[in-house]
Amino acid sequence: MTATAQDIAAAAQALREGELVAFPTETVYGLGADATNDQAVARVYAAKGRPAFNPLIAHVASSDAAFELGEFGPEAQALARAFWPGPLSLVVPRTADCKVSLLASAGLDSIAIRVPAHPTALALLAAAGRPVVAPSANPSGRISPTTAEHVRRHLRDRVAVVLDGGRCSVGVESTVVSLLDGGPKLLRHGGVPRAAIEKVLGHSIPAETHAARPHGPGQLLSHYAPHAELRLNAEAPRAGEAYLGFGPLHAHGSWTLSASGDLVEAAANLFRLLHDIDATGVACIAVAPVPHRGLGEAINDRLLRAAAPREPA
Ligand code: TXA
Ligand code: MG
Repeated sequence: MTATAQDIAAAAQALREGELVAFPTETVYGLGADATNDQAVARVYAAKGRPAFNPLIAHVASSDAAFELGEFGPEAQALARAFWPGPLSLVVPRTADCKVSLLASAGLDSIAIRVPAHPTALALLAAAGRPVVAPSANPSGRISPTTAEHVRRHLRDRVAVVLDGGRCSVGVESTVVSLLDGGPKLLRHGGVPRAAIEKVLGHSIPAETHAARPHGPGQLLSHYAPHAELRLNAEAPRAGEAYLGFGPLHAHGSWTLSASGDLVEAAANLFRLLHDIDATGVACIAVAPVPHRGLGEAINDRLLRAAAPREPA
């Protein structure tokens, strides 16, 4: 049954309350959450299973809403004008006051944004009145869903609402183009052909897609790291270190990922706390052991990357 105006209003309310909503776009169904709510974003990663903090696309109802979240130079603006609403996601620098959770950006200072073309998606985004992050609504390792039935089969018990918008007309994910320093790059092939993008820009663009990348998934993101050194699995801080705990605050710890030892809360806090502690100018952050289950696997993965020896600039 195609979603009614009433279904959409209820779904928007669920989003505002921090719940997950699966909704149709013209590419594939998305697993949506309030992009400004750290905990809701953390729940998206948990719901995907075998979670990894890959950065998520923020969906908005209009280009004007997009311009509040990201810095759009002339080329980004040209692509937005040409292809939005539509199956194109643009990676741009976050604005200084970008309200999207740092967890959704996986700690990067860039953000992927898309205005989808599906009427149900646009109505939902307008009603929610805020950006909505949405990875494809498939459990990890399964193909992306192009009908509401696909979503119900795999994720029904993990979402508050599944909005039905029929079969997705495009059926493959959006094309992802990065517009950071160094010029446009194609990060993922998708619904908008590369040639159409190059035609708008008036020049060819290099591809840095998974297949073209030499070192496999995650490589692109390994440059995220705080300025401070990280010392992992630390039971307590040494002199001069800041301590990022897991569980109740110790006398020596000014920060904790989750006072109650909750991994969803810890994920929600991870990147924000690393930023906050880094901003104090401390030379080393000692991080408590984090249990390696549920979202703990993704948390430990990001911590390991952040602690890895830095590549020379
Ligand atoms: O068609 C689509 O794009 C669907 C629908 C629901 O909109 N969404 C989707 O999301 O495919 P997801 O999470 O499955 O894929 C997002 C892609 C990933 O390849 C991710 O690495 C990239 O976008 N991405 C997101 N933010 C990024 C960033 N700041 N820098 C580089 N890549 C980013
Ligand atoms: Mg996906």
